[in-house]
Amino acid sequence: MDYDLLCDQLASLAEEESWYVPLMANASALLYETLPRLNWAGFYLARGEELVLGPFQGKTACIRIAKGRGVCGAAWERNATQRVADVHQFPGHIACDGASNAEIVVPLRKGGKVAAVMDLDSPDLNRFTDADQQGLEAFARVLEARMTLEGPA
Ligand code: SME
Repeated sequence: MDYDLLCDQLASLAEEESWYVPLMANASALLYETLPRLNWAGFYLARGEELVLGPFQGKTACIRIAKGRGVCGAAWERNATQRVADVHQFPGHIACDGASNAEIVVPLRKGGKVAAVMDLDSPDLNRFTDADQQGLEAFARVLEARMTLEGPA
């Protein structure tokens, strides 16, 4: 997978609009269209003590996730990427789509705090490799550098 190209495509999308809503909407479409063997790609935003569903591609998903709950809540609480080969072995995993077997969640930070998480699910066990993690973390760095939380004027 050419993650350099994916990062370049994201950076050019961000040139037109940096507000997180259109940027995350297009970022989720880019990930979902480009990466094979996914059944969900999207974002949750940190709001108070919860993550709230943001732009995504895939089936409808749970709207609120408490800090520390599931793979997304763990990525937020631990402020670290969670790469899970088999979600059924992950304590507290939240099954939004029964087809999901593997998952990776990467935190996005603003001002030193986790502002959102990027979540990718796959029906394939062990779907995400070390190279995927590195590529997705680079993608997240581009997003957090370019995205603004305030809407357009
Ligand atoms: N499985 C996630 C919940 C979000 S859905 O996968 C879209 C979790 O355990 O945090």
